[in-house]
Amino acid sequence: MLSFTSLFTLLAWTIFFNIHVRALPIERCAEDAVDYFNPLDKGGSLLDKSAGLGEPLNVIISAKSSPEILSFTNHGFLNYARAIGFSIECLGFHSGTPQSANLGDGRGDVNETAVIRENFKVPVLGTCIESLIGGNHFRVFPQTGTEANSGALFLAVSKEEDVSESHNIVPDGYNIGRDELVQAAMGIRTHDGVKYNTTVTDITDLLQPGAEGINHGIAQDGIVKMLTVTIIDS
Ligand SMILES: *[C@@H]1O[C@H](CO)[C@@H](O)[C@H](O)[C@H]1NC(C)=O
Ligand SMILES: *[C@@H]1O[C@H](CO)[C@@H](O)[C@H](O)[C@H]1NC(C)=O
Repeated sequence: MLSFTSLFTLLAWTIFFNIHVRALPIERCAEDAVDYFNPLDKGGSLLDKSAGLGEPLNVIISAKSSPEILSFTNHGFLNYARAIGFSIECLGFHSGTPQSANLGDGRGDVNETAVIRENFKVPVLGTCIESLIGGNHFRVFPQTGTEANSGALFLAVSKEEDVSESHNIVPDGYNIGRDELVQAAMGIRTHDGVKYNTTVTDITDLLQPGAEGINHGIAQDGIVKMLTVTIIDS
């Protein structure tokens, strides 16, 4: 049988643990955390590659975001994507050839991790609607190579025509797609019990404005929107 003393000790330790250990911050950004490393510093580019030309990497998810956001899991980035009205491609089918990007992280050209489409707030089949009628979508490239391991996610965002136009980008579709995504993400969003606070910063020294080297010859304004996403207690 437990003696009074051991019960007391157990109780004391429980209280100590709850106050001193549980009260420690669960996650802490490293002191030297960066938002991202400039891909241009090590031979990378802010244009991805698809059949010679590229699409602008016009949104960055800062590595100073909560760590869950940067992990490509159902409860991590994919849950955040759903919170802002996107999900993984129609039934998991991946249409088209993957695009690749060099983020200057020592890995050279790396294929996209995923294509994420607007889901029109329709569960499961919503992204199939996007595949048919067009809409917003983005490709995800994580900066995780050993030479620039920020953990930031680079997104190539663009708005598409419907399937009859064989998924061409709408006029001004890079700027429009980026701005619609930012609009959908800004402020407080909740999905599956997780509450996200998203702030935006304009980065103007990474991407050249114009249409040079850009897929479909569609010009863009050269602004990269950096999103910092923090999970807050609901
Ligand atoms: C990238 O995708 C292409 C086309 O599917 C494939 O041939 C190539 O092996 C992939 N590269 C890597 C590194 O996975
Ligand atoms: C969201 O983040 C911004 C910028 O850090 C902050 O000012 C604001 O208070 C946050 N909102 C909530 C509800 O935490």
